[in-house]
Amino acid sequence: MAEDFDVKFTDRHYTPDPSYRQNSWLGDYQKAYEEFTRDPDAFWDRIASELHWFTPYTQVKEWNFPYARWFLNGKTNITYNCLDRHVLNARRNKVALIWRGEDDTERIYTYRQLFREVMRVANGLKNLGVTKGDRVCIYMPMVPEQIISMLACARIGAVHSVVFGGFGAAALNSRITGAAAKVVITADVTFRRGKSIPLKHIIEEAIINAPSVEHVVVLRRETNQPVEIHREMEVDFYEMIRDVQPECEPEIMDAEDPLFILYTSGSTGAPKGIVHTCGGYMVGTYYTTKNVFDIKDNDVYWCTADPGWITGHSYVVYGPLAMGATIVLTESTPDFPDPGVYWRMVEEFGVTILYTAPTAIRMFMKLGEQWPNKYNLSTLRILGSVGEPLNPEAFEWYYHVIGKDKVPILDTWWQTETGMHMITTMLGEPMYPGFAGKAIPGVVADVVDKDGNPVPPGTGGFLAIREPWPSMLRTVYNDDERYRKYWNTIPGCYAVGDLAVKNKAGCIMVLGRSDDLIVVAGHNIGTAEVESALVSHKAVAEAAVIGKPDVVKGNIIKAFVILRVDHTPSDKLKNELLYHVRITLGPIAMPSEIEFVASLPKTRSGKIMRRVLKAKEMGMDPGDISTLDE
Ligand code: PRX
Repeated sequence: MAEDFDVKFTDRHYTPDPSYRQNSWLGDYQKAYEEFTRDPDAFWDRIASELHWFTPYTQVKEWNFPYARWFLNGKTNITYNCLDRHVLNARRNKVALIWRGEDDTERIYTYRQLFREVMRVANGLKNLGVTKGDRVCIYMPMVPEQIISMLACARIGAVHSVVFGGFGAAALNSRITGAAAKVVITADVTFRRGKSIPLKHIIEEAIINAPSVEHVVVLRRETNQPVEIHREMEVDFYEMIRDVQPECEPEIMDAEDPLFILYTSGSTGAPKGIVHTCGGYMVGTYYTTKNVFDIKDNDVYWCTADPGWITGHSYVVYGPLAMGATIVLTESTPDFPDPGVYWRMVEEFGVTILYTAPTAIRMFMKLGEQWPNKYNLSTLRILGSVGEPLNPEAFEWYYHVIGKDKVPILDTWWQTETGMHMITTMLGEPMYPGFAGKAIPGVVADVVDKDGNPVPPGTGGFLAIREPWPSMLRTVYNDDERYRKYWNTIPGCYAVGDLAVKNKAGCIMVLGRSDDLIVVAGHNIGTAEVESALVSHKAVAEAAVIGKPDVVKGNIIKAFVILRVDHTPSDKLKNELLYHVRITLGPIAMPSEIEFVASLPKTRSGKIMRRVLKAKEMGMDPGDISTLDE
C-alpha cells in the first residue's frame, strides 16, 4: 500500500533574514493562516475586493460538493485588472514586458503599449468572427504575441486553449478537436539553439480532420524566406491587425464564465481539458503572486516557464500582470549559446525574482558554478521553483550558488488543476531542503491515508486538499465524470495524485506521483498517451511506459514494446518508433529507452501493471502482486 512506508530525513533548515517577513505583503504566516481559518469567506472577500469588478459579487462562494462557484454574480474581465487598471493609474508607462530573443534582440512593451496591442488583436479576432465563448487554440513560441493573443482572447471573452509549442501534430489535433477551436493562432517558426524550427507544417497536419477550425492566424517571423499564406484558410497576424482600432471594450464576464481550457495529461485515455474561470482564477493568481512572490512595484520578475503550461498562464501572464509587475520573457534555452545565458539576463535586466524548475537547476548544477559566478546576481531577492520535487542537493546548490546563502527559496507545489500555488514556504518561514512547505493561507492541505485520515509525521501518504479554493478547476471540458474523480478517490478530499510525507514541523515533502503520470523535466506526460502513440505504429502490438529516475530530468521515459508477429526487433525499428512518437506527440514525450519484450505483466482483468515493470527495472521489490496474471 502506498501509505505504508516511512521516510527518513533530517530537520536541517535555513531561516531567512527577518526583514523578509517584516517587509512582506503577507506579514506573519501563522497570523494570516488564522485569519483565513476564522472566516474563509471574509478572507477571500478581502482579497477579491482589491480587484476591479464591473458589478460586485453577491456571495463569496457556494460549495455544493464537489462543485464550487466563486464570487457569485460578480462581473469582471481579467484583462481590465491586468491592463486598464494600470494604464488608468500610475503604471501607464511602466515596463510590462521585456522580451529577449536568442540572438539578443529585445522588445519592450510598456503597460500602455501592451494594452493597445491586446486591443488590436482582440479587434482582429472579432473581425474573424470570434465571439464570447468561442475557443481559440494558441500554438506559439515564447514571443510577446503569444501573451498578447492570450490576453486578446480574454478581452473578448473567447476561451483560449494554449498548446505548448513542443507538441507534435497528433497531440495538437486532439487538443484542437477536443476544444472544437474556431481559430488557431500560430507562428511560422520557433528559434531554438540557433536554428529555426518550422511550426506551420505541424498546424497544417493538425487541422486535417479538425472541422471546427475556420481560420489559422500565422505570425510570420522568418524574414529571409517568408512562408506562404494559404489565403483560403490562413491570415497573417500583422495583416489581421493592420487596419483595426487600438480600442476594444472589455467583454463583461461573469465570474464563473470560462477563461481558458488547458490540456494536461491524464493517467488514462485522452488528455484532460482543465477548465478555469474568470473570477476565481483571477483572484487566486493575483493573491498568490502578491503574497507568495511578494512582488513590489520595483521588482523585475522572471518566470522561465513557457506560457503554454499552467505556470506560464498563472505566473508569467495573469498573476504578475494583475499585480502590475515588470515581467521578463525569453525564447532562449538555458544552455545556448552557453550555460551563462540566464545569469547574464539576470545581471543585465537586474532580475529580482527568479522562478524556474528543478530540472533547469540540476542542469546548471551539472554544468558548474563557473557560469553563474561570471555574473552579478546581487539583484536577486527571491528564488522560486516549481514542477517537481526540488531535491535537497538541488536546493542547496540553488541556495548557495545562486542565492549566496541569503536569498529565500520558494519551492511551490501546485498543479494545472489548482490554478495557483497551494503549498510552499512563505517568505520568512524556515526552509527545509526537500520540503515544499505548508499550505498557504487560503488552502487546507494534508497528507492522508486512503480513507482521508491524516497520517503522522514521517509516514508517507496521499497529498490531499480539503476545502475548495477560488482558482480550482471547475470541470474537465466535456468530461465532468473525470472532474468528479478528483473528489471521489479519497473521501471528502480533492486527491492530487501525489505521494507525500510531513516532518514534525508540519512541512510537506512531495515524493512523486502515485498514478500513471510521469514528470519528465517538469512536464507531466501521461503513460496512456505515449503508449497509444507507440501502438499507432504499424509494427507495435502493445506498449507500456514507465518513468525511470534521472539525475537531471527527474524522470526519463522507458518503453516496453511487444511487436506484431511479422516484425522483428532492430535498432532501426527503435529509431523508427522514436521518430513516430516525435512526430505524433512531440519531442517532450519521446522515450529515452525502448525495450522489445514478449509479454507485459498484467492484472487478471488485463490492466498493465506498470508498477511491476518499474520495480523490476530498478531492482526493487514489486510489492503486492496478488492480482498479477501469471
Ligand atoms: O506531481 C506534482 C508535480 O507536478 C504535478 C502537477 O503538474 P502540472 O499540472 O503540469 O503543473 C506543474 C506546474 C504547477 C504535481 O501533481 N509538482 C509540481 N510542483 C511541484 C511538484 N512536485 C513536487 N514539488 C513541487 N514544487
